[in-house]
Amino acid sequence: MSQDKFALLGNICYSTGPNKIHTIERGYLVVSGDKIVGAFDTLPDEYSGVRVEDYGEALIIPGMTDLHVHAPQFPFRGIGMDLELLDWLNTYTFPEEAKYSSIDYAEKIYEFFTQALKASPITRAVIFSTIHVPATRILFDKLEASGLISYVGKVNMDRNSPDDLRETTTTSLADTELLINEAKNYKRTHAILTPRFTPSCSDDLMKGLGDLKAKYDLPVQSHLCENPSEVELVRELCPTSKNYADTYDRFGLLDDKAIMAHCVYLNDDEIELMKVRKSFVAHCPQSNINLASGIAPVKKFLELGINVGLGTDIAAGASLSMFRAITDAIGVSKLYWRLVDEDFHALTFSETFYMATMGGGKFFGQVGSFLPGYEADVLVLDEKNSGVRRDNLLERLEQTIYLADENVILIAKYVAGKKL
Ligand code: GUN
Ligand code: FE
Repeated sequence: MSQDKFALLGNICYSTGPNKIHTIERGYLVVSGDKIVGAFDTLPDEYSGVRVEDYGEALIIPGMTDLHVHAPQFPFRGIGMDLELLDWLNTYTFPEEAKYSSIDYAEKIYEFFTQALKASPITRAVIFSTIHVPATRILFDKLEASGLISYVGKVNMDRNSPDDLRETTTTSLADTELLINEAKNYKRTHAILTPRFTPSCSDDLMKGLGDLKAKYDLPVQSHLCENPSEVELVRELCPTSKNYADTYDRFGLLDDKAIMAHCVYLNDDEIELMKVRKSFVAHCPQSNINLASGIAPVKKFLELGINVGLGTDIAAGASLSMFRAITDAIGVSKLYWRLVDEDFHALTFSETFYMATMGGGKFFGQVGSFLPGYEADVLVLDEKNSGVRRDNLLERLEQTIYLADENVILIAKYVAGKKL
């Protein structure tokens, strides 16, 4: 069967790296099957017969990857922001997550969550569920039906957790393996190992997850160095580990398919380890503001060539908006520069747009750009009110993202070449 070929016509903007956004006014984005052929000023002769979807003056940009989000926390976004991480988890988060022992509750909330994700600029996401197998199955089913592409992890927790949200080590590993095998029946939804964070996971559990990783060649997601009290707790819990990052690495959990959320307080050895292992940092600026966690030195990570993407971290982050994540990342980096280290340069718009698209997309392969061969994840955006529209495309893109709360409409969304 020949591949479906088509072209999208509009004002095209995409990253080719952290420091370059390529723009084409009224250009053609040619797609063949699930892949980008390329972005062109004029339609190449060999594609002259293809269907052209003309989006007029709209912006055409790559889809965004949310590299870190907790689906079960969707209902309590925007409340309970008066505490720091460990108290926030015990007071608000764990009681909420315990509710997912009910499949009726999971059914209701995961439907809301999936619909919100589908309506957003997010085309790919890496998602935590809870410890519960039936609820996680529901989330798998809903995401698969949505057309989005995602990784979903059943959370592992066997210590320092309330009775109704704590597994035995054996059950945790057996349930994880069960879902790993069930996930093979899905096309767009994939399993990912999800030790919640070191305080919730015994060494035996971490070792078992390392074994599952080796057996099934799976990716991993977790949290790392988010908050000072958390880092101190890990030091007490793991006296023989070199540092927090080592509590994962010693069990083989850090590699180029690992995502570590936050990384606010990495020491130099841990930064070096993240670089050597080619692991991903999920930078979650709104979460870091809300829980007063701190500011991750993301500019340094980028300069060292560490993989970085952006996460909403619902519900510590209140907003599911990746546009907000972009502008929050720029904002907190400016505070870091002003208040913490004047030798540090603030993040640019180009760098944060890259992180939201290509940087996080890299976790999924060639995703998040319109370079030839990339998967065709595409957003078509326009201003609700075009009265403020700038002539310069780069300025227009930047303004559209900064004014997203009030002035953007998502006209169309394609995931791997398929229009949702
Ligand atoms: N660390 C462990 N669990 C969580 C969580 O649910 N949210 C955040 N922000 N940090 C965590
Ligand atoms: Fe998180």
